[in-house]
Amino acid sequence: MSLVTTTEMFKKAYAGGYAIGAFNVNNMEIIQGIVEAAKEEKAPLILQVSSGARKYANPIYLKKLVEAAIEDSGLPICLHLDHGDTFELCKDCIENGFTSVMIDASHHSLTENIKITKNVVDYAHDKGVVVEAELGRLAGIEDAVNVSETDSSYTNPEQVQEFVAKTGVDSLAIAIGTSHGAFKFKGEAKLRFDILEDVAKRLPGFPIVLHGASSVPQQFVETINRYGGNMPGARGVPEDMLRKAATMAVCKINIDSDLRMAVTSTVRKYFNDNPSHFDPRQYLGPARNAVKEIVRHKLINVLGCNGKA
Ligand code: G3H
Ligand code: 13P
Ligand code: ZN
Repeated sequence: MSLVTTTEMFKKAYAGGYAIGAFNVNNMEIIQGIVEAAKEEKAPLILQVSSGARKYANPIYLKKLVEAAIEDSGLPICLHLDHGDTFELCKDCIENGFTSVMIDASHHSLTENIKITKNVVDYAHDKGVVVEAELGRLAGIEDAVNVSETDSSYTNPEQVQEFVAKTGVDSLAIAIGTSHGAFKFKGEAKLRFDILEDVAKRLPGFPIVLHGASSVPQQFVETINRYGGNMPGARGVPEDMLRKAATMAVCKINIDSDLRMAVTSTVRKYFNDNPSHFDPRQYLGPARNAVKEIVRHKLINVLGCNGKA
């Protein structure tokens, strides 16, 4: 098995009413934790690399680790660039074997977003690589969507057909109230399912992507806070909302913060319980297991993609 694109994965996910997990990877233990869970649950996978991950790990190390994951697991795995912000970055990833890239030009005007996205699509399709783009803008880490963002940040369904037709993009990330990071909602958690429905009606069968979809399990927050951390009020997207989205047009759900919190809560507790230990294997091993268990939970209870590889 070699790296695959998302084309087949999304076709099956759309028809089957489930979504594929797109997990951010930054090091060996995170990759291993994700892949061990997917292997045991027979789930297709998207492993995604941000520009921050590229800077942290050096792209070649991540690429080789993902190749090892495929050899070890035999799973269909897509290697995806998360939030590519320039044509050059997308091109570099395409040339270095990624099977999917995201061009995120959502902060530009619609016309500019279309132009930048189409450029990447033309280059990528020529090399057999698929492209995700974004329309609408997710709130940042500090700005909880339902408190400080106006409707103008949500995706405008009236623009999606024109965007997809003019760019030829393969999947579309939309903004319906999710946001990046661990502080997503101050008041009631609310997703605009009406926008998702409207988009799905206008783009029948077309795969939609949800970013900012960590659910921020409260056991992680409590452990982090108990062992010297400070994350009061951390809150994510309720899992039942994500499950509902996965049964609709959403075929890819992006999760990063939950994995970070799995690692951090485990390591904080480990040092509290074992203050004299200093061998990284002693705390990175349990951290890897924690990643595995949260990913397994997502595959079964949130994404519904277990058994679909
Ligand atoms: O959406 C962003 C992802 O969580 C990646 O975060 O840019 O800190 O690697 P990063
Ligand atoms: P979270 O911060 O909710 O995990 O979102 C991750 C993401 O969207 C990566 O692109
Ligand atoms: Zn994102």
